[in-house]
Amino acid sequence: MIKKCLFPVAGYGTRFLPATKSMPKEMLPVVNKPLVQYGVEEAIEAGLTEIGLVTGRGKRAIADHFDVSYELEHQIAGTSKEEFLSSIRDVMHKATFSMTRQQEMRGLGDAILNGRRLIGDEPFGVVLSDDLCLNSGEGDGVLSQMVQLYKQFRCSIVAIQEVPEDQISKFGVIAGEKLKDGIFQVTDMVEKPPVEEAPSNLAIIGRYILTPDIFEIIENTPPGKNGEIQLTDALLTQAKAGCVLGYKFKGTRFDCGSVDGFVEATNFVYNNIYKG
Ligand code: G1P
Repeated sequence: MIKKCLFPVAGYGTRFLPATKSMPKEMLPVVNKPLVQYGVEEAIEAGLTEIGLVTGRGKRAIADHFDVSYELEHQIAGTSKEEFLSSIRDVMHKATFSMTRQQEMRGLGDAILNGRRLIGDEPFGVVLSDDLCLNSGEGDGVLSQMVQLYKQFRCSIVAIQEVPEDQISKFGVIAGEKLKDGIFQVTDMVEKPPVEEAPSNLAIIGRYILTPDIFEIIENTPPGKNGEIQLTDALLTQAKAGCVLGYKFKGTRFDCGSVDGFVEATNFVYNNIYKG
């Protein structure tokens, strides 16, 4: 079954400068927890406990976050402050972390290809931690829902969401044949199309289950939108050769790659999780 999850975390986070000048954007806290930890917790909940980080220069803080901090542990051992470390200790106890470095930013497809050695020849999850996904109520997290779907269909799956027209050009967009409520077989996929060329209003959100043949497909995928190697293009090839599903997940997604989305997420987490 699926055990591994890849986190491409090499991006610059330019929209958050100057905050992200020397700090990885994935370490920005939503209330008191860094974004990337939310993603890792979602992966662990789905049973994906072998975490692969595709990281880059200036991103050491992420690896350190998932390691023991001796000085800190020593200072607060036996005090009431220890409870503040409980969530990260729990994550470190349940998951293992491997890292590889992406030396050049050549797109999401290239980042995934960089993680090949960490994954090997098995299906795996991908989390883009900019997209913070929170499940409503007590339901399963998004990745967990997708793992259950994978068990049924055994093919790559992308999380999708309907987005308004003025947002569509920020996403990969799919077209598909509806198989069941909320499940589409992908027939077309375009990375960040202008609205008039978008095949639908179903946008790809940063959660994927990928079968390992994707690596070879990416190797043979030429640069696309913005001159980058796009995972969306590779997935379209995979969809045409076999099957890729689009899954309308249950839950709420915040675009924490934008300041507005980040503030929205912060308010939501503060009111519903931190205080709630
Ligand atoms: C990436 C993908 C895009 C997807 C988006 C979801 O774009 O390339 O297809 O819709 O994530 O957040 P990015 O936002 O990293 O430019």
